Amino acid sequence: MYVSDLALNDFRSYHEVVLALEPGVTAFVGQNGQGKTNLVEAVAYLSTFSSHRVAADAALVRQGTDGAVVRAKVVHGDRPTLVELEIVSGKANRARLNRAPARTRDVLGVVRTVLFAPEDLELVKGDPAHRRRFLDDLVVLLTPRLAGVRAEYDKVLRQRGALLKSAGAARRRGARVDLSTLDVWDGQLAAAGSQLVAARTRLVRALRPFVAQAYEQVSAGQGAARIDYRASIDNADGVAEHSAADLDGDEPPALAAREAVEGREMALMDVPALTERLLAAMGRVRQKEIDRGVSLVGPHRDDLVLSLGTLPAKGYASHGESWSYALALRLASYEVLRDDDSSPWGVDGEPVLILDDVFAELDTRRRERLAAMVAGAQQVLITAAVPEDVPAALDGARFTVHGGEVSRG
Ligand SMILES: Nc1ncnc2c1ncn2[C@@H]1O[C@H](COP(=O)(O)OP(=O)(O)OP(=O)(O)O)[C@@H](O)[C@H]1O
Ligand SMILES: [Mg+2]
Repeated sequence: MYVSDLALNDFRSYHEVVLALEPGVTAFVGQNGQGKTNLVEAVAYLSTFSSHRVAADAALVRQGTDGAVVRAKVVHGDRPTLVELEIVSGKANRARLNRAPARTRDVLGVVRTVLFAPEDLELVKGDPAHRRRFLDDLVVLLTPRLAGVRAEYDKVLRQRGALLKSAGAARRRGARVDLSTLDVWDGQLAAAGSQLVAARTRLVRALRPFVAQAYEQVSAGQGAARIDYRASIDNADGVAEHSAADLDGDEPPALAAREAVEGREMALMDVPALTERLLAAMGRVRQKEIDRGVSLVGPHRDDLVLSLGTLPAKGYASHGESWSYALALRLASYEVLRDDDSSPWGVDGEPVLILDDVFAELDTRRRERLAAMVAGAQQVLITAAVPEDVPAALDGARFTVHGGEVSRG
């Protein structure tokens, strides 16, 4: 797919901007703070309904106004679709599909993007929440139905947390605590949680070979990247977790470790069995949960472990290696989305690739390698402060962004 038209009203710094785009490479060039990222952020927003830069949508609405509108015409094969989102501070988005009001969940999946930005360094260096969000955003893009499961899980988790806190406080006062509501929350948390864990595990397995391949390509064979899903339920159940060092080599211990990893992942993808495991684990830790006022097992405590060679990337990888790793995660996402034949658009569902300020951070060799890797994508949107940062291999349409004006050339 590609975006053929983009129109913004009161989005970020833009009062109004209308752009006609083409397949292939488009670069937005301009000095710092001129509004380049704002443009590509708007395109990415249409696919995830969230910004890679801020948690709350308020910052997306132009200062002094009440709401923003992002409108795009996207083309799958030769089928155009008009997507429109109205972002109103503090309220739910309003969506339209081909000019007719639509539920936002029906719009999910229509626009598919993969965005790589400097913030992605946090995927490698930051806390697990970044990596969970990375997985969940991609899970939802691949299977829009799971957006509801994700939202349900978050809701139940909050309500269960509140109940645990009040139960803990009551117990400390010596009051009698009725725990029957907690049983209900346990059931709902386990039901939604197991679906989320299963989907994330499936995704990690799909991403794994692409991450290894993309890392090798970006870094020119300097180290093997491997990703693993770390589940709090395994920890609670005493299931052994294997590090990349355990899996290294062809000797019997490594072979056995690889088999154990396979078994562990199969178990995480078995939703009914996993639901039971989560329920049983919650039963075992209930006392502790009431004491601490937090839910101790479930996907909100899980992580995506990134290894480089036999070492974890976090805490060990250099700045450049971390950067390449983050890039490999995004490129692998792109490959998984492109491979996905479950989308209603089939092969025309290939996502738009967005590279925000990426080239300035890479040395010349890595730049060229990345350029070669993405040159074949159906549509690539690039931002750069200076034209020289865009590799020659990515020659294409060019817009200059200056003082809120976007002009061709
Ligand atoms: N809600 C908003 N209302 C008005 N202006 C905003 C809003 N959000 C961001 N801006 C302005 O948009 C500008 C930033 O735009 P953007 O991040 O797109 O810049 P950029 O061209 O990508 O710069 P850089 O090269 O530094 O990455 C800033 O000047 C900021 O003040
Ligand atoms: Mg920027």
